[in-house]
This record gives sequence, structure tokens and C-alpha cells, in this order.
Amino acid sequence: MVSKLPNRITSPPWRQLIQWIADPIAFQARYGRQYGNLFTMRLAGLGSFVVIGDPKIIQEIFSQSSKFDVGRGNLLAKPLIGQNSLILMDGDHHQRERKLLMPPFHGEKLQTYAQRICLITEQITSQWQANQPFVARAAMQKISLEVIVQVVFGLSEGERYQQLKTELTDWLNMIDSPLRSSVLFFKFLQHDWGAWSPWGKMNRRKQCIHDLLQAEIDERKAQRNKKDANILNLLMAARDENGQAMTDEELRDELVTMLFAGHETTATILAWAFYQILQRLDVCDKLLHEIASLGAMSTPMDIAQLPYLTAVCQETLRMYPVIPVIFPRIVKSPMTIADYWFDAGTILMPSNYLVHYREDIYPNARQFKPERFLDRQYSPSEYFPFGGGNRRCLGYALALLEMKLVLATILSQYQLALADDKSVKMQRRGLTITPSGGVRMVMTEKLRKSSTTEPSYKKQPV
Ligand code: HEM
Repeated sequence: MVSKLPNRITSPPWRQLIQWIADPIAFQARYGRQYGNLFTMRLAGLGSFVVIGDPKIIQEIFSQSSKFDVGRGNLLAKPLIGQNSLILMDGDHHQRERKLLMPPFHGEKLQTYAQRICLITEQITSQWQANQPFVARAAMQKISLEVIVQVVFGLSEGERYQQLKTELTDWLNMIDSPLRSSVLFFKFLQHDWGAWSPWGKMNRRKQCIHDLLQAEIDERKAQRNKKDANILNLLMAARDENGQAMTDEELRDELVTMLFAGHETTATILAWAFYQILQRLDVCDKLLHEIASLGAMSTPMDIAQLPYLTAVCQETLRMYPVIPVIFPRIVKSPMTIADYWFDAGTILMPSNYLVHYREDIYPNARQFKPERFLDRQYSPSEYFPFGGGNRRCLGYALALLEMKLVLATILSQYQLALADDKSVKMQRRGLTITPSGGVRMVMTEKLRKSSTTEPSYKKQPV
């Protein structure tokens, strides 16, 4: 059967917009139940979007990446990341920039971060006080921010770094609820009425971050030794086909993109992992057993290869999408996918939430069952927490490594418990989805000293 814009939701577009902003997960669950795995939503002022929970269609989208534009569909993120971000690029420009940004996130380079991630985790958690509840997401954000700042800049100290971390955290906290996130969706709210207006405050914080980044760029330009292969140095050394270097504005936007995309996401997924693990003694015991089985001479890369730990991370990523749908794919010229005819300009939104909760692929999908990832392999269109095709998350390998090392380091050093027994829901935070309340937990006992005084694994040169 051939049809255009399948299963249109019939309620008024303004109502759909409000529902989408307020709770994009409940929105998808509700209309998924009503219409199945393919429906069209219409968001007032933003347009129509075909939400897709069918792996067959998604597989076609991922395998024909060049037939879709993505960057121009991500304009909502522009006020946060700036107009020169990889996320907003398409075509050759996007491909070139990705090639440039990729090396520090993969291969050998990644291994060198492993030791650092463990040390950062130990340093930050050593400040935890026994029996004092804290918010897991905020605690994890301290770790992931430190990691990404070190990866992007290759540095870990100085006043500018401290300031950058504070400003970035405060900036992102300005859109920490569905109501406060609405500023990103309504153009009329995006007016700077002065320092006390929401947009005015956002702009001032952004300017402050830009100033800090500019100061860093200026300092690097004056430095002779730029051999360290961190992202900032690589970007500064890059030249296009005409021998032109990136402008300061372009550099700044890419740095903000990495800082923005690379730390909240990882912090959020770690908070969810603790939420699940601490409710399940059996999972926690299995993890501790597996980590202990490595022995004293293991390296962080040995930890990263543990099968059950990997399955726990995969299952967490299945259950909790970090963004409500992956990036929109805009059809460049008319095409047929799985019997549906789509005009040029149609916006397709593959939904990892809809696919990851399909009972035919994940029986008892609402249950946290890491074993499912040990029992079978899922195809890239059945399981895509990091998206797919030519837009697959640039930092997925770093994020997975960080997840495993942070979990293993913390679980083997501290006894933890959830501070509340109420269930935690998925809630919008800006353009991402986060646990409501951030998951409150408490450290009840320190199990052993940190490796800074007593190595728990063999140290590798950093
Ligand atoms: C658990 C953590 C993370 C999750 C769940 C996640 C998820 C995603 C998803 C779903 C996409 C869209 C992909 C698509 O539409 O096909 C994406 C894109 C992206 N992510 Fe991540 N991400 C995470 C961590 C990171 C980290 C650590 C970085 C580090 C820099 C990063 C950088 C990016 C970038 C730059 C893009 C845009 C890629 C492009 O447009 O070509 N992400 N991520």
C-alpha cells in the first residue's frame, strides 16, 4: 500500500506541541498504542514529523544515509550549540568535519583516556560523605564534565577550566524542566529583554562560555607546542581544500557541541544505570563478582571487556533514550520506503524509544534484563541508542567506555543504596530526557580505599 504521511494524529497542532514539550515519552507511548509503529505528528510552528518505530523502515533509512538531510532538521539546537556545529551540517561539509573530529574518540586514543576516567571518578567520589543522600545525575555530571573537558582540551587544571565547568553546568541547568525547556521551542520567547529575562540570562551565560573558549583559543595560538592530539589542537591545525583554517567562531561552536553533547548524555545514562542496579541485588552481586574476578593486576581496558557489565550498560541504554527520538531525517527527493511514498521535505523521525520497547523484539520490555544482550544480538535497526548511519553518535565509544569504568570503579569501592523508594520517571530536560529528580542515592559504606593509595588495577602510562 502506498500512502502519504501515514496515521496523522488528529488533535490540534498546538496541543500536540504542548504534549511533545511536556512529555515526549508519554506522547510516543500514547500514540504508538493508538496508531502502531508509524504515525505523523504535527507540532504548531515546527511542521509535520513521521515518527517511526519499525526496524524495517529504520534499516532503510540508516543504509541510505545520503538520501536524507539531517543538519537542517536540528535547528532547535542552534541557540545552544551555534550555527557552525557538526550537528547542523549536511553533505560533504558534514562528512569532512566528522573525519576531522573522529580520531580522538576512537582506537588507541580512547585507551589512553581509560586510566584518566578511573582517576577522575576516584577523585570526585572520594568527597562523598557516608549516609548523606545526593543526586546521582549531578554527581555523575561532575565526572562526565571533567572527562569531556580533558578530552576536548587535553588539560585538567587552571582557573579557566574551573570557570568553564561551572558556567556550562549553570547554563544547562537553565533548561532543566519541561517548562524551562519550552524556551527552545517557542521563537517568541527567544528575545533578550535584559539580564533578568530567561533568554537574556541564557545569552549572557553563553557569551561568558564563548569568552572563556576564545581566551583558550587565543592562548593556544600563542603556544608553540601543539603536538598533543586533543580535539582543540586538531581542529586548530586542520585546513580545508583551499588551505584555510577554521575561524574562531567555527572552532568555538564545535567546542561547545562536544562539551554539550558529550557530558549531560553520559551523566544521565549513568544515573539510570544506578537506579536499576541498586534496585536489583542480583544484578549488583553479579557485577561485583565479575569485576572481582579480574584480580588485582587487571587494566581498565580489561574492565571494559567484561560481558555482564557490558550487558548492563546496553540494557540501560535500551530502556532509557537520552534524546526522545534520534535526529530527524529529511527526505531530499521523493522516495518509497517499505511501501510508503514520501515527498521531498518529509521529515522522518526514527524512535529508539518505540523500537526498544517492542515486545516482539524485547519480551517483557519494561523489565531490566541485561541477560537479553548475552542471549542474542540485535541488528543496528533493532537497537540504536546512539542512532545510526552517517550520523551515528560521534562519542559512542567514549560514552560506553566511560559508563563501564565509572560503574565498575564506584560499585567496587562503595556500598550504595537508593535514597527514595518512589519510582523515577523519564522527564524532558532541554532537548534530552533525564530521570525526574535525578535519582537520589546514598553511600552507606566505603568498601575499600581508592586506587590512588592502593592500586586496584595495573596502572598504565596516561
Ligand atoms: C550515553 C551517552 C550518549 C548517547 C546516548 C548519545 C546519543 C546520541 C544520539 C542518539 C545521536 C544522534 C544520532 C543519529 O541521529 O543517528 C548522537 C549524536 C551525536 N553525539 Fe552522542 N550520545 C552520547 C554521548 C556522546 C558523547 C560522549 C559525545 C562526545 C563528543 C557525543 C557527541 C555526539 C555528536 C557530535 C553527535 C552528532 C553526530 C553527527 O551529527 O554526525 N555524544 N548522540
